[in-house]
Amino acid sequence: MVVDAADIQRVAVLGAGNMGHGITEVVALAGYDVTMRDIEQDFIEDGYESIEWSLQKLDEKGRLDESPEDVLDRIDITTDLEEAVSDVDLVIEAAPEQLDLKRDIFSDLDDYTPADAILASNTSSLSITKIAEATERPESVVGMHFFNPPVKMDLVEVIYGEETSDETAEATYEFVESIDKTPIYVRKDVNGFVVNSVLGPFMDEPAWMVSNNESTIRQADAAMVHERGYPMGPFELADLTGIDVGYHVRKEAGKPVPPIMEEKVEKEELGQKTGKGYYDYEEGEGADYE
Ligand code: 3HC
Repeated sequence: MVVDAADIQRVAVLGAGNMGHGITEVVALAGYDVTMRDIEQDFIEDGYESIEWSLQKLDEKGRLDESPEDVLDRIDITTDLEEAVSDVDLVIEAAPEQLDLKRDIFSDLDDYTPADAILASNTSSLSITKIAEATERPESVVGMHFFNPPVKMDLVEVIYGEETSDETAEATYEFVESIDKTPIYVRKDVNGFVVNSVLGPFMDEPAWMVSNNESTIRQADAAMVHERGYPMGPFELADLTGIDVGYHVRKEAGKPVPPIMEEKVEKEELGQKTGKGYYDYEEGEGADYE
């Protein structure tokens, strides 16, 4: 038995990284009270600053109905997991893409959250069924997969694990509508769900081509942007989402990792968030295609 979507008032987002702070912002923008939790104060402060930057941008463009401060007033921050989730109706976990880590978090959520809370994971591709098995209430566990940057991307996948109840999935779907996003159900818990399964070859093939000296990064991105009309090429997109995110997704799925990606992760050049990835952002160079 989970809470009705209409009764959801307090939300916790676990993780203040790219996805965590973006989801926190979207939920607060929709009028909910939300607590953003991460394991270190520095991570939280970085995430909070990103929300402030984003709200400022939206305000400058006249896209806010209230002041950035009013939105920020609905956001609490903490490093304490129990404090973050003990009185919430919905938890959205946005921790790194490692199954054991997520299972540990969901096991703690089982202890700390109210019995009728919805426990959602923003995982990109890990099994909702396996995450849910770490709890005594797999029927309340669901996938709620946002896209980067959450403030700008409209779609959210609502993913059934094998035990997810219709009641949980339907309340999650309605909640997604209430934050002004477009939900789609994913009824089979397949690796990558729908979007990342479609996106996988678009990201993988160019990474293998560059690793094999068959294309440059700029050529591959230029092809997809100028010829196909995509908003970003695959390497620019990897820099936005985080090269480490795609790396962990492949590792967890037991898929081979293209050498160019391995090299970037070893050097900790993970994309925009580290100032350097496939492109150099510190030098202000960015992704200007040839
Ligand atoms: N908040 C507020 N403003 C933002 C912002 C944010 N989070 N991000 C960018 N902006 C601002 C920019 O700073 C820019 O402001 P300026 O005009 O003052 O310079 C303005 O918005 C316009 O941005 P852009 O000119 O860069 O371009 P667009 O608005 O047209 O589009 C985009 C930006 C939506 C990111 C677009 O490039 C796009 O759709 N890219 C592809 C993104 C995508 O495919 N995401 C999914 C990735 S897969 C994923 O997330 C799965 C996961 O599991 C890994």
